Amino acid sequence: MTEYPSGKVGALFHTLMTAISNCSLYSTEHASVEEYLKRSLTIINEMLDTHESIEIMIIEDEIIINKNPLKETGIHEKNLIKRLKRKGISGIEFLKGLTIAELKQFIADISVKKRDIKSYPHIKTGVIDVRLGGLKIDDGLSLDTEGLADLSTQQVEKLKEVYSDISPFRRLNTSGLEEIVVNFILTFRREANILTIISPVKAYSEYTYTHATNVAVLSMFQAESLGITDELLHDIGISALLHDVGKMFISKEILEKKGSLADKEWEEMQRHSLYGARYLSKMEDLPRLAPVIALQHHYRYDSKGYPALHINGKRQHILSQIIAVSDFFDALRSIRPYKREWEVKEILSLMRKNADSEFNPLLVDNFTRIILAALKGS
Ligand SMILES: [Fe+2]
Ligand SMILES: [Fe+2]
Repeated sequence: MTEYPSGKVGALFHTLMTAISNCSLYSTEHASVEEYLKRSLTIINEMLDTHESIEIMIIEDEIIINKNPLKETGIHEKNLIKRLKRKGISGIEFLKGLTIAELKQFIADISVKKRDIKSYPHIKTGVIDVRLGGLKIDDGLSLDTEGLADLSTQQVEKLKEVYSDISPFRRLNTSGLEEIVVNFILTFRREANILTIISPVKAYSEYTYTHATNVAVLSMFQAESLGITDELLHDIGISALLHDVGKMFISKEILEKKGSLADKEWEEMQRHSLYGARYLSKMEDLPRLAPVIALQHHYRYDSKGYPALHINGKRQHILSQIIAVSDFFDALRSIRPYKREWEVKEILSLMRKNADSEFNPLLVDNFTRIILAALKGS
C-alpha cells in the first residue's frame, strides 16, 4: 500500500487535534470547531480518493497509518494518542462516505470526559492490542477474554515486565501501565463483583506485582464509586500500580525475609516510600499524583505513620487515603509468610476499628459498602 505524503498526514493530525481541543474548551457548535472539522474532512476525503479506507492504529507510542508507521510523532500525534488511550481506543478507521455530522459526533465523544465512544456508520473504533495475546477489545469496547482471572493474571505479568525494567537510569514504560489501567476500567463496566479480578498471590516472589495490581483495581473501584472519572480515575490507577515501587530499591533479603524484621531492617523497609517518591518525581509522563501517593501511602489518617516528614501540619492527601485503604485490605487478604489469609468480613471489621486513626472513616464506610455489595453480587 502506498504511503501518504507526510505533510498530508501531519495536517490531518493537526486539524483533528485542534478540533478536539477546541471542542473541550468551547462546544461542538463553536465556529473554530466547525472550521477545523471541515478542514479535517477535506483532508480525509482527499486521502480516501486513493485508498478504500484510512486505518490508524496505535501500538505503544507509535502511529501506524494504513500499515505504514509514521516517521515522526509530533505534539499533535502524541496528544491524540493520549486522548484515544484514555478512551480505551487504539484503532480508528475512516471509511468512504464519512459526513461532517459523524465526524463532529466522534470528535465530541472524544473530547467530552464522561462520554463513551459509540459506533458511527463511517468511523470504526477498536482496541487492537498486539501485546496482550488472548485479550482483545473489539468495537463497542467489550472485553473478549477467556476469564476474568486470566485477565488479572495477564495484568500482573504485564506489571512484572514494567517493573523488571526499573532502574534509576532508565525511563519507565508508562504505556505498559496505561494498558493495565485501561483494561481494568473496561472490566469494571461489565463485572459487578470486583473480588473476582483480585489476584491470589501464587508465589511470594510475585507478591510485589500482584499486590500493586490489586491495589490499583481496588483503588480505581473505590474512586469510581465516589464519582471520580476519566483522567483522575486513570491517574489513580497509574499511581496505585506504582505506590510501592520504592521496594525495588530495597534488598531482597529484607523484602523476602520470613521472620520478623530487626529494627535496622524495618527502618530500611520503611524507606520504600521515600525511595519510590524520589524515583517517580524524576520520571516524565507520569501523573503528578504518583510521587505524592508513593510518599504518603503509609502516612495514616491521624498523621502517625511514616515517613515522619509530615509532622509540620501536612495531612495525608485524600487520594493517598484511598490507596491506604486498598493497601491494607490487599495486604491482609494475601497469604504472607507471617500471616494467614484473612476473611474479607474480618478484614473489613478490623478496618472499621482502625477508622479515624489509620484510615479516613468515610472512606472505610464506602469501602465496606462496595465490597459487601460485590460479595452479594457474586
Ligand atoms: Fe508500601
Ligand atoms: Fe503496598
